[in-house]
Order: sequence, then structure tokens, then C-alpha cells
Amino acid sequence: MSSESLPPIPAVQTNGLTRTYGNMTALSALDLTVNRGDLFGFIGSNGAGKTTTLRILATFLAPSAGTARVMGHDVVKEANAVRHVIGYMPDFFGVYKDMEVTEYLDFFGACYKIPTVQREKTVNDVLELVGLSEKKGALIGALSRGMQQRLGLARVLIHDPQLLLLDEPASGLDPRARIEMMAILQELQRLGKTIIISSHILSELQTLCNRVAIIEKGKLIYSGPVQGVRDQMASGLVVWVRVAAETERAILLLNERPEVAGVEQVEGRLKVTMSGHDVDHSFVAEVLVRGGLKLVELKEDELGLEEVFLRVTRGETQ
Ligand SMILES: Nc1ncnc2c1ncn2[C@@H]1O[C@H](COP(=O)(O)OP(=O)(O)O)[C@@H](O)[C@H]1O
Ligand SMILES: [Mg+2]
Repeated sequence: MSSESLPPIPAVQTNGLTRTYGNMTALSALDLTVNRGDLFGFIGSNGAGKTTTLRILATFLAPSAGTARVMGHDVVKEANAVRHVIGYMPDFFGVYKDMEVTEYLDFFGACYKIPTVQREKTVNDVLELVGLSEKKGALIGALSRGMQQRLGLARVLIHDPQLLLLDEPASGLDPRARIEMMAILQELQRLGKTIIISSHILSELQTLCNRVAIIEKGKLIYSGPVQGVRDQMASGLVVWVRVAAETERAILLLNERPEVAGVEQVEGRLKVTMSGHDVDHSFVAEVLVRGGLKLVELKEDELGLEEVFLRVTRGETQ
């Protein structure tokens, strides 16, 4: 068999990955696959197990059971090989406030044994990527929080890793700094990096990522395309309806249908919830028009990931 016909190795593959702290299970038999080139969103509320997972993938924490491979290397048996191909940005990292931006990056470049002659160019390149070229001589302590986060990102790019593991890199940033961070991540994906980014803020990953995983209490709830979350998790499709008059009669007519789970009046419109998410809702217009009502508006609800997530985890989280 020629090498071209072999299936590509995933960037990350975990099998039954488990981590306990004492008798507390932080991560429970996680099976996760991240493909090369993914900008992968790792979503879960606080305490779900995101940091634990990322620290295991970054070889900083040993699994209690199960395996994890990063770019084909086992995180326990081949930890050194893994460290070369990843850039890990922890949720909290200290910055050296009295150091200059270039000094700081040069220091990490030296840690990765990048030869002195190449280092200046490497530092310039990563600064350019994160939009900090103007801040070369600035003291780190004088940078805004958003800039410090971008400097943290520059630091993990120094050795040109294939996979970035970013633990809530946008947390604590104002909306503008968040948008800047997201734009940089998209650029890095375009440059061929695989990126895993964790967050408990779902809406910020919804448009950014091509695939997501949702974990809750150490268990994987969903993994796949963003669109699939909605399809799979949305319990009942919602259709918004506005009639010109006789709203009460519209409610009666709709409630007669077995496909309708409920009708609510919300700000002059009717929120019609179906009994399932795959219901064909064309009957709504039909029923109303046949009943002599004038239909002004009919719109299917686009369920946000955030709402889907809340539905998924309802009853699981307090
Ligand atoms: N060093 C530790 N000792 C004991 N429990 C821990 C430790 N680190 C994390 N945990 C627990 O493991 C669970 C998962 O934590 P974590 O991976 O940090 O979640 P997340 O990053 O999603 O907020 C939480 O219940 C947390 O309290
Ligand atoms: Mg965390």
C-alpha cells in the first residue's frame, strides 16, 4: 500500500481518556477526534473538564486511564515529540511586566534552541502575525490585556507548532480585543495550523469554529460540525408567526394540530413550538390561510448554539 492511500493521521485522537483527582472524576472516558486544519471549539461550563483535557494533550498532566495521541504521538510515551508540535497557551500565564516585548520572545526562542541568527526574524514574524509589530520596544506591563493575550499567543508560535492548544484565550477581553483575537486565529488556520480553543462562552465560537465538542461534567455530549449541534440537540423547532388580526383564533387553530407542542404570544407574534425538530412546518401557513386569517409573517427560528447548549445541559448543571 502506498503512503498516499493511508488515511491521514488526526491532529488529536483520544480514546477513553479519563482523569481522576482523588475520588473525583474530572474527565470520563473521553473519545475525541480533531482533524488537521480544524479550528476546533471545545465548549463547556466551568468545571466541565476543558483545562484538564488540554493539560493532558500538552503533556503537563498524566491521564488516569485511556490514551491520547497528538499528531500521531502518544502523550505519555512520546511526550517530547508531542511538545515539539504543540503550542500550549494556559488559561493563566505570568507575564514579565518589566521585560520588553522582543526580549520576552527572544528568551522563549532561545528556550526552543532557535539559533541566534534566525531568532530576530522569527520574533518579527510572530509579532507581525499577532499585530504587535508596533510594540516591539514596549514594556509588557504597559500593554493592554488584549495585547498581553496576543503576546501570549506570539510566544506559543515561536517554534512554529502544528497544533495550538488555547485555553480560554479570549476570557476577560473586551469585545474589540476578542474580535481581534478571533481574526488572528482565523488567519492562523488559513496558514495551516490546527487550533483547539476552549471557551465557556458559546456564541464567540459559533461563527469562528468549523467543528465543536461540548463537554459537561467530564463527559462528551456532542462532537461534530456546529450546524449539527442544532440539528441534533434542538428538541422542538420554533416557528414565529404574525397574523393581521384574530390572534386568539390563530392560537386555537394551531393548537389543534398534533405537530404543535405549544403556542405563546411574544411581543405581538406567536411563538409556535413543534413537537420535534424535523417537523415540516408548511402546514402552519396552510391552516391559518384556510381558516381565513391573514398571515403577515412566518419565520423559522435559527437556534443559537448558546440556547442549544442550555437545553442540552439542562438538568445537568445547577
Ligand atoms: N488539581 C486538582 N485537584 C482537584 N480537583 C481538580 C484539580 N483540577 C481540576 N479539578 C476539578 O476537576 C474538574 C474539571 O476542572 P477543569 O478541567 O479545570 O474544568 P474547566 O477547565 O472546564 O473549567 C472540576 O470539578 C475541578 O474542580
Ligand atoms: Mg479551565
